[in-house]
Amino acid sequence: LRTILIGPPGAGKGTQAPRIRDEFCVCHLATGDLLREQIAKKTELGQMAKKIIDAGELVNDEIMVNMIKDQLENNKSCKNGQVTIHPVVVFVLDGFPRTIPQAEKLDAMLETRGEKLDSVVELAIPDQLLISRITGRLIHPASGRTYHKEFQPPRKPMTDDITGEPLIQRSDDNIETLTKRLATYHKQTAPVVNYYKNKSLWVPIDAAQSPNVVWENLRKVFREGP
Ligand code: AP5
Ligand code: ZN
Repeated sequence: LRTILIGPPGAGKGTQAPRIRDEFCVCHLATGDLLREQIAKKTELGQMAKKIIDAGELVNDEIMVNMIKDQLENNKSCKNGQVTIHPVVVFVLDGFPRTIPQAEKLDAMLETRGEKLDSVVELAIPDQLLISRITGRLIHPASGRTYHKEFQPPRKPMTDDITGEPLIQRSDDNIETLTKRLATYHKQTAPVVNYYKNKSLWVPIDAAQSPNVVWENLRKVFREGP
């Protein structure tokens, strides 16, 4: 399975991608999570990215393409305490590609590897439903696990179910930044949906449904093909 989840902020990419990963044994590559890792480590890239992310804009295409290329070629996994580096051949991409140049570069990359995408899933949802999703989101920074104050509350308030560590709000999860993120999505990422429509890879899913209903519909797509 090689697939992409495209959708605006709060559409449910980070909620559904781990389910796809676990059910279909594929690698979940999320460029937003990778950037937040760099921010947490206070690397040069992280410091540059933080300003852009908090402004609701996009990090430079070349940086993002190289990041995905590196992930696809040199993915690090850890099993029984042993770290191995290997190429990724089956995956769900979350947050990439976000511009036409990123989509074109991804195509070229996959073609060189003799690989093809199976589908590109658009998590379609009206903007007005995203405000409460984004302002109520809580995350466990170390794992990227996502909760929602109302829609997916943790068992103990502000606490990760698995590690017991505190949950936080993302610095870009406020109305001002969300407004900019949505504008960026419509201007730069919505054209990517059309790009894949023209390649007959596009599968629309109604992302306004509950997480379990969205998941059932996704599972059908991947079991039966687009
Ligand atoms: P990124 O982290 O990818 O942010 P995003 O695209 O804005 O998406 P979100 O993570 O906000 O939403 P999601 O769809 O994952 O929603 P979730 O499942 O968490 O990127 C961050 C930034 O990094 C970008 O703005 C950009 O600056 C930069 N960046 C990243 N990739 C880049 C690239 N390729 N190029 C350039 N720059 C890049 O759900 C949200 C909330 O809703 C959660 O609380 C969840 O519990 C809840 N929820 C989920 N589904 C449902 C449901 N069905 N019903 C009710 N509640 C739900
Ligand atoms: Zn996400």
